[in-house]
Amino acid sequence: MKDKIKELKEKQELAMLGGGEKRIESQHSKGKLTARERLELLLDEGSFEEIGMFITHRSVEFGLERQKFLGDGVVTGYGNIHGRLVYVFAQDFTVFGGSLAEMHAEKICRIMDLAMENGAPVIGLNDSGGARIQEGVVSLGGYADIFYKNTRASGVIPQISAIMGPCAGGAVYSPALTDFVMMVQDSSYMFVTGPNVVKTVTHEEVTSEELGGASTHSTKSGVTHFSFANDLECIENLKKLLSYIPQNCEEEAPAIPYHVSDETRIVLDDIIPENPNQPYDIKEVIEQVADAGSFFEVHKDFAENMVVGFARLGGKSIGIVANQPAVLAGVLDIDASTKGARFVRFCDCFNIPLLVFEDVPGFLPGTDQEWNGIISNGAKLLYAFSEATVPRITVITRKAYGGAYDVMNSKHIGADMNYAWPSAEIAVMGAKGAAEIIFRNEINAASDPEAKLKEKEAEYVEHFANPYRAAEKGYVDEVILPSETRKKLMRAFDMLKNKAATLPKKKHGNIPL
Ligand code: HXC
Repeated sequence: MKDKIKELKEKQELAMLGGGEKRIESQHSKGKLTARERLELLLDEGSFEEIGMFITHRSVEFGLERQKFLGDGVVTGYGNIHGRLVYVFAQDFTVFGGSLAEMHAEKICRIMDLAMENGAPVIGLNDSGGARIQEGVVSLGGYADIFYKNTRASGVIPQISAIMGPCAGGAVYSPALTDFVMMVQDSSYMFVTGPNVVKTVTHEEVTSEELGGASTHSTKSGVTHFSFANDLECIENLKKLLSYIPQNCEEEAPAIPYHVSDETRIVLDDIIPENPNQPYDIKEVIEQVADAGSFFEVHKDFAENMVVGFARLGGKSIGIVANQPAVLAGVLDIDASTKGARFVRFCDCFNIPLLVFEDVPGFLPGTDQEWNGIISNGAKLLYAFSEATVPRITVITRKAYGGAYDVMNSKHIGADMNYAWPSAEIAVMGAKGAAEIIFRNEINAASDPEAKLKEKEAEYVEHFANPYRAAEKGYVDEVILPSETRKKLMRAFDMLKNKAATLPKKKHGNIPL
C-alpha cells in the first residue's frame, strides 16, 4: 500500500507543477500568477476540491502523444468564497499556453453542469492561447459546447469571467455570454482578430493593448465591466462582487446584519445646485443613501453619464441605476442605454431590487446617435425596466424630461414607487425649448422678443418645473425631503419585500437587440 500511496502523491505533485518550473517562472516574470495560485487566493482557505486532476488529452497528432500534462491545462473544481459554494475553472497557461482542446473543454463543461444542477455560481479564470492548434476541430467543438452551456445557464446561475491573460478568437464569446467580465490591466487582452489580421485586412497598425486591452474594453467597447491593476486586485474584487449576488435565480442575495438608527442624511438637502443647469455628482447622492461604503460600481469607466452598481440598504443588496448629471448632463445615449439595460436584466434575473435615481434632460440628439440606433438601443432600457418584476423604486432628484422620464423606471412601466425631491422637474422638455415652441408667435410679435421669451420661460417653469403636477396625477407617490430619502427607501423596500409579480405566459420576450 505504501508504494501505491507514494505513486498517488507523486502524481499529485506532478499535476501541481502544471507545465513545469520554467514555465511557472515565465508566468511570474509577466506579472501573472499561476492557475493554482489564483484559485488559492480566490477560495476560502482549504476549501478547494479539485475535479479531474489526472485528466489528459487523447490526441496523437503533431507529437502531442509524447506531451501529456496532468489536468490538460485547466484546473477545475469547487470550493467556497465567504463560506458559499462556487464552481471554478482556471486555465493554466503553463500547459500548452492554456489552450483549449477536447478534454480541457470537457472539464469546464463538467463544472458548468454541476453548477447548474446544484445552483451555484461558475467562475472562470481565463488565461489561454485559444483553440489548441494541434487538436483542430475538436477544440472548436469544445468551445461551442461551452457557449451552449453558458447560454443555458444564463439567468439560472451567476457566471463571472476574469480575463487574466490572452483571450482571442472565438474564445472571447464564452466570457461575453457570462454576466460579468473582469480584466487585468497590461496582462490581459480580448479580441476576435489580433493585430496582424487587422493590419492585413484594414491596414490599421494597432498593438494588442490598444486593440483589446483592459483600458480599451473598459472605456470604449464596454466589453469588460471591470478593469484591475493586477491579479490580486481582480480576485479581491471578484469576491466582493459575489457578496452582492445570490447563488441562483431561486434565491436572494445574502443580507448582512443591520441595526436601524437615525437614517436622516442632512447633507442631501444641500446637494442640488440652485441653478438647474449646474452639474452635481450623483455618486455623492448614492453614497449618502446607500449603507456607508457599500456602493460597488459596475462598468465605472464606460458611458459615465449612466451610473450602475450594487449597494446595500439596511444590509440588503440592491442594484442602483442612476443618471449622472456630472457627465453630459446625464443625457441618455446608446452606450448609457445598453449599459443600464444589461444591469437591470442581471438584477431582475437574480432577485435584486432596483433603485433608480433620475436626473435626465432627455435622449442625446444628433446624427451619430440616430444613425447608430438610439431608437433600438434606447428601447433596450425601456424593455429591461418594463419586463423587470423585482421591487423597483425611482427617486427623481431633478430633471425628468421627455421620453427619458418614461424610460427611467416610471410608474407607467411598472415601477412600484416613485418619489420626487422638491427640486424635481417633470416635463416634456426644458423650459426654454418649450417656451420657444409653444409661444413662438407671441415671442416673434413682441417688441422685445428676448424679454418675452424670458417671461414665457418663467411661466413654463412655474407651471411644470416642479414635482407637483406629476404628484397630482399619482405619477409621483410622494414628494420627499432629500434628507429623508434613505429612511423612505428602507421602509418602501421592506414593504415590497414579498412582491410577487409574474410575466404573461410566453416562450420568451423579444428584446430589441
Ligand atoms: C497550442 C499553444 C497555443 C495554442 C500558445 N501555445 N498558444 N499551443 N495551441 N493555441 C503554446 C506555445 O506553443 C508555447 O509552448 C506556450 O503555449 C506559451 O506560448 P508563447 O507563445 O511562448 O507565449 P507568449 O509569448 O506569452 O504568447 C502568447 C500568445 C501566443 C500570444 C497567446 O502563444 C499565440 O499567439 N498563440 C497562438 C494564438 C492563436 O492563434 N490561437 C488560436 C486562435 S483561434 P511552449 O511549449 O513553447 O511553452 C481560436 C479559435 C477559437 O482560438 C474558436 C472558437 C469558436
